[in-house]
Amino acid sequence: MASLLQFFPILHLPFIFICCTALKPILQTYIVYMGSSLNGNGGEDLSYLALLSSLIPREESERISLFHSYNHAFKGFSAILTEKEASTLSGYEEVVSVFPDPVLKLHTTRSWDFLEAVDNKFRSSRLWDENKSSEIIIGFIDTGIWPESPSFSDEGIGKIPSKWKGVCMEGSNFKKSNCNRKLIGARFYNKNGQASTRDNIGHGTHVASIAVGVPVANASYYGLARGTARGGLASARIASYKACSMDGCSGSVILKAIDDAIKDGVDIISISIGMSAILQSDFLSDPIAIGAFHAEQRGIMVVCSAGNDGPDPYTIVNTAPWIFTVAASTIDRNFLTTIVLGNNQSYEGTAINFSPLTRGKAYPLAFGEKVASRFTPASDARNCIPGSIDTKKAAGKIIVCVNEDPNVSKRIKKLVVEDAKAKGVIIIDNQGQFLPFDSGTYPSAVIGETTGSRILNYIKSTKSPTATILPTKVVPRFKPAPVVAPFSSRGPGGLTENILKPDIMAPGVAILAAIVPRIIADYSAPGNKTSLFSIKSGTSMACPHVTGAAAFIKSKHPHWTSSIIKSALMTTASVSNNKGKLLTNSTDYYASPHEAGVGEITHLRALDPGLVFETTVQDYLYFLCYFGYKPKTLRSITNTNFSCPKSSTEKLISNINYPTISIASLKKNERIRKIKRVVTNVGSSNATYTCSVDAPPGLKVLVLPKMLHFSAGLSRAAFKTFFDGKEATKGYNYGVIKWLDGLHVVRVVFAVNVE
Ligand SMILES: *[C@@H]1O[C@H](CO)[C@@H](O)[C@H](O)[C@H]1NC(C)=O
Ligand SMILES: *[C@@H]1O[C@H](CO)[C@@H](O)[C@H](O)[C@H]1NC(C)=O
Ligand SMILES: *[C@@H]1O[C@H](CO)[C@@H](O)[C@H](O)[C@H]1NC(C)=O
Ligand SMILES: *[C@@H]1O[C@H](CO)[C@@H](O)[C@H](O)[C@H]1NC(C)=O
Ligand SMILES: *[C@@H]1O[C@H](CO)[C@@H](O)[C@H](O)[C@H]1NC(C)=O
Ligand SMILES: *[C@@H]1O[C@H](CO)[C@@H](O)[C@H](O)[C@H]1NC(C)=O
Ligand SMILES: *[C@@H]1O[C@H](CO)[C@@H](O)[C@H](O)[C@H]1NC(C)=O
Ligand SMILES: *[C@@H]1O[C@H](CO)[C@@H](O)[C@H](O)[C@H]1NC(C)=O
Repeated sequence: MASLLQFFPILHLPFIFICCTALKPILQTYIVYMGSSLNGNGGEDLSYLALLSSLIPREESERISLFHSYNHAFKGFSAILTEKEASTLSGYEEVVSVFPDPVLKLHTTRSWDFLEAVDNKFRSSRLWDENKSSEIIIGFIDTGIWPESPSFSDEGIGKIPSKWKGVCMEGSNFKKSNCNRKLIGARFYNKNGQASTRDNIGHGTHVASIAVGVPVANASYYGLARGTARGGLASARIASYKACSMDGCSGSVILKAIDDAIKDGVDIISISIGMSAILQSDFLSDPIAIGAFHAEQRGIMVVCSAGNDGPDPYTIVNTAPWIFTVAASTIDRNFLTTIVLGNNQSYEGTAINFSPLTRGKAYPLAFGEKVASRFTPASDARNCIPGSIDTKKAAGKIIVCVNEDPNVSKRIKKLVVEDAKAKGVIIIDNQGQFLPFDSGTYPSAVIGETTGSRILNYIKSTKSPTATILPTKVVPRFKPAPVVAPFSSRGPGGLTENILKPDIMAPGVAILAAIVPRIIADYSAPGNKTSLFSIKSGTSMACPHVTGAAAFIKSKHPHWTSSIIKSALMTTASVSNNKGKLLTNSTDYYASPHEAGVGEITHLRALDPGLVFETTVQDYLYFLCYFGYKPKTLRSITNTNFSCPKSSTEKLISNINYPTISIASLKKNERIRKIKRVVTNVGSSNATYTCSVDAPPGLKVLVLPKMLHFSAGLSRAAFKTFFDGKEATKGYNYGVIKWLDGLHVVRVVFAVNVE
């Protein structure tokens, strides 16, 4: 394949164009997606090049070159084009979509014990290590992997599954011998000499160890959160595809990595990456949605993070129905730090700090605006914005900052205050309490507004206020948990509201897992030592919990398809917390399905879901028809003469056989809306289920039939749900349809927007 390297200088050319000829068009990388190659014969680079040479003027023939080409599960390539060429290409018969190569963001263990504690009766089926030779292979598309981590040891793991067709690419500081029977595959895509699959960031290492790391006893973060770190299926194999660097993740590389993972023979693909919610225009210009579609078409589950742009609605990404979309929750472990004031009052803040301060000595305490630099607005200094704090006034003190300006992160505030030679920092931020901030040995604490105003009152009340900040202590069995993390991106999905998203919630706050042990520039680690584990938060951390759970289910039910596994996890999810109350969000309201999906995963219950919703590739194609794609597009995507149903309207999306129900718009004066579903019995063959509906007052919900009978010869049954919104409250109405047989509770969550 031709290398792009020689063309990188092109990226600087627009500057020259501006100076000399304003007419030269701007060049950039485009992804050209050409649909399915299910019946294709691979090796289509020549035809892609032919396509390009029909388009690119002879004098620019150096551009007739492929950046990446996709030849396995789907067709297409990426190349450097002008906008006009891109637009011409998009009109070609064989081309589905052409879009600029986007840059995607990373969605930066006690957690598994916590998930298993929800239901003691299921504990007996917790047999992680009974089979050390699982055939299940997980592909992680991320920042690569640190192969030396004890979480990826292959001790006791059997030989590499024979179905594996991938490779362990050698690269800078990464040898074939860095792969083993646990880490069986490694690929990277950037073509410069320094490249390899080695993780320099830590994200990919963390994510892989959360999902399927082997148990590592006595793991901790400098002594905090000590315990056994492990994944959801320790016997599963890891294939690492490095698609991201410090600068983000290129869409064309993600697409290439998905194509490779499918060819290599992975069972599940885990992607803790996403587009920016405001940039997603449709499913066919989103590389993750395109790649995941073709993976699903071949029976490979794709699990993705929902994004970290919450708590506003419509911030969720990775919302295609063939993607398993994961929101983030807290777990029952909290990291608290005690602030002791000069008046002997003490308050708990949230933090991960290894403060050297003790109760024995207090330091002067000051509000940021009282230690402002000259000519600095008080609002800047209050927020501890760079340049706003006067070292002469702040040195030796503990400084209180507020968090009104989202542009200045806690990390920056800490650096600003530290730079001013202050002794420590207290940050007032209500939502920050749900996201422990790691300040290393620098004393820090994050407190809510109530505690904040008490501390500010104390400062005002005395001439010489003082305080100290003690090192973090871990609070186990913290209640309530789980709680929806404030940063977790919220539904409804911006592209369609007729599919309920997110799907499910999993732990994503302060998760201990493997990391790249290294010294970080502006971070003071205890004793200047590195750690093999670290504590991270994000939907990035929630996603691999679902990946690990799905791998676990698949290990017990090898013949279950990805949609059966997804449905099993979704209809059995937990909706209560460890206080026995319904799940809440971080401001103490009941969590809606647009925040938490169907609830928190309980993978042990999902082993025996009773009934499941099978969503087929046909359903997904109908979805694309209903969404509004043209028949020609659908034919290319499938590489068949598939035709859309005659009536293809957006509201029919609600009818695809998904494990939840969402209606984007139910007019008060419209006739009753009918939604169809088919369930498959995966429990014992003779079963009778009866229906029970929890609906909000005013929304009439009728399910027919009220009973479903299954027998040896009859494992499928259809039911219809009728929604009548005449007397319902306007806006989203949430509820649940339950199918009960005395053993199972099959929960079907619905969201109906009454207008
Ligand atoms: C363990 O895995 C191997 C390979 O997939 C399989 O043949 C064997 O039956 C499994 N054993 C158990 C107890 O599940
Ligand atoms: C755990 O590790 C610490 C040091 O990191 C060590 O002092 C301790 O003995 C270890 N405990 C066990 C049970 O291995
Ligand atoms: C929690 O839910 C309530 C009610 O839906 C909402 O008003 C509030 O904004 C939510 N809080 C967060 C942090 O999302
Ligand atoms: C705070 O408590 C310490 C010991 O507990 C005591 O010596 C000191 O006088 C107290 N200070 C105030 C202001 O109450
Ligand atoms: C944050 O930065 C953006 C862009 O630089 C700016 O438009 C916005 O006003 C800033 N927000 C605040 C609260 O200063
Ligand atoms: C840690 O390293 C920095 C820079 O190398 C040094 O200034 C500092 O004294 C060291 N701290 C400890 C506790 O060793
Ligand atoms: C496409 O349609 C033709 C004629 O209707 C049929 O013979 C052929 O089998 C179809 N091809 C596929 C791939 O379905
Ligand atoms: C299911 O029910 C039928 C009819 O009642 C009966 O003949 C059959 O043995 C039952 N099968 C099982 C597995 O219980």
